[in-house]
Amino acid sequence: MSLTRVILTSGRALDLTELRMTSTYGGMLEGYPCKLVNDMAIHGLLNTARQTRPSSPVHLVPPHLDRPDQQAGPFGPVEILPPVACVGSFRSTALDPAHDPVLHRSSLTVVWFQPTPRVPSGEDGEEALRGIDWEGWRRTSSCRTGGNALDLERAPDTSMNGMTTTSDRQLILGTMDFGTRVDTGRAFAILDCFVAGGGVWLDTANCYSFWNDPSGVGGASERVIGAWLRARPGTRDAVRIATKVRQNPLVPHSWPQSAEGLSARAVHAGVEESLARLGVDHVDLLWAHAEDRDVPLEETVGAFGELVAKGAALRVGAANHAAWRVERARSLAREQRVEPYTALQLRHSLVQPRPYTPLPEAGHRLLTAEDLDLARSEGLAVWAYSALIWGSYVRPDKPLPTAYDHPGTARVLAVLDEVAADLRATRNQVVLAWLMRQGIDPIVGVSRVEQLEEALTARQVSLTDAHMTRFEEAR
Ligand SMILES: NC(=O)c1ccc[n+]([C@@H]2O[C@H](COP(=O)([O-])OP(=O)(O)OC[C@H]3O[C@@H](n4cnc5c(N)ncnc54)[C@H](OP(=O)(O)O)[C@@H]3O)[C@@H](O)[C@H]2O)c1
Repeated sequence: MSLTRVILTSGRALDLTELRMTSTYGGMLEGYPCKLVNDMAIHGLLNTARQTRPSSPVHLVPPHLDRPDQQAGPFGPVEILPPVACVGSFRSTALDPAHDPVLHRSSLTVVWFQPTPRVPSGEDGEEALRGIDWEGWRRTSSCRTGGNALDLERAPDTSMNGMTTTSDRQLILGTMDFGTRVDTGRAFAILDCFVAGGGVWLDTANCYSFWNDPSGVGGASERVIGAWLRARPGTRDAVRIATKVRQNPLVPHSWPQSAEGLSARAVHAGVEESLARLGVDHVDLLWAHAEDRDVPLEETVGAFGELVAKGAALRVGAANHAAWRVERARSLAREQRVEPYTALQLRHSLVQPRPYTPLPEAGHRLLTAEDLDLARSEGLAVWAYSALIWGSYVRPDKPLPTAYDHPGTARVLAVLDEVAADLRATRNQVVLAWLMRQGIDPIVGVSRVEQLEEALTARQVSLTDAHMTRFEEAR
């Protein structure tokens, strides 16, 4: 049952099933309407929208801004949003004519602004609201213009026709290059786009990226995230931050010789510095970036547990560890009655290097069947890095490394092209969708907003069981 029915300018009828209206500046205690205040108001509404209906994509209708000729204050010129802020849940019939129109309804949570508290109805609604491009869901979206409205044709509650539900899919934003290869301005734009597009987790490390930093030590990535959080008040609650300790050089330009390691002292000192750079009182996930077999595992486990006990980290995970070491650490954590590792981070993608070929990238460790077995048996999260192999699936300037030169790669790439054509998606999107379909969260590193937009759209690409089987056979 709907509250009202809204007719889009395209002619499509939408059922409005839930509506929340608030005064745009009702809670404003001081200051004046300007870009900063408006961005915060919009972020708050997008968060409300996501929390209200976590399984529905969220679309921001670009608001009309009034710019009266008033003197600019310290935060820039006066910009006024319309006085009424709305968050509404809409439903419509299936997008794909081949689907049953009722069983496969499309849904969208929309955030928009309007001049009065009138409930939109029929053809009597804001022009921008009625102009939503509901059918444009397959086209590449733009986060900045509200294209995070990544419509998806949702199957009924249970999985149908091999489609998975999309509510639990997530991409992690890799921020390794922020502050070094990616300058601060561009990093801010990427972070803004990620949050606007419904992204939550940021992956960084205290050592990012000492090898590209003239200082010879890490910290640039965490500093950029810290600056971004300060520039976007209220955003800390919208994101979760994962950082890592273990690899930062204690002596500039001296790695691995002076890498901090995982002694209790190094772990505590490393986290304290990370929190200071990020400007936060805790991180949501703390990774051991790699093993340190020179330190007793009991000591590392105890240090990570202590950090969770005192609230500096909400949970802990193991990156680039052998599965047996993770399980031993978890068993030691049980003995010490402290928080165990509950997440794994390893390198993984659709194509795979020749078995036993050493990887030239220092510190990288490939995900194995054993890691997945451990994760599935124990309910651990799995994050995959370098999932796009630095762009090699699509970029002639970045061919796949020689370790991938074997007949299996050619077979997989042929299937990848067929599946991508079938789903009208890009190669990168299918690779990310393939990981997400297995419950693996891909970490995507990007240096441009457009790359992120392409990656975010992968959450709407649904591989069928038949697609998965074809990949399994080709690999
Ligand atoms: N735990 C670990 O040991 C570990 C190791 C490595 C990485 N990581 C994490 O994983 C994240 C990602 O890893 P990564 O950077 O090695 O791998 P990646 O995500 O496969 O590669 C990122 C690069 O791929 C290119 N790219 C991204 N999207 C593209 C697109 N749509 N089209 C064309 N090219 C595209 C860009 O290259 P250009 O900039 O050249 O355009 C981008 O910088 C890192 O930021 C970090 O958080 C963790």
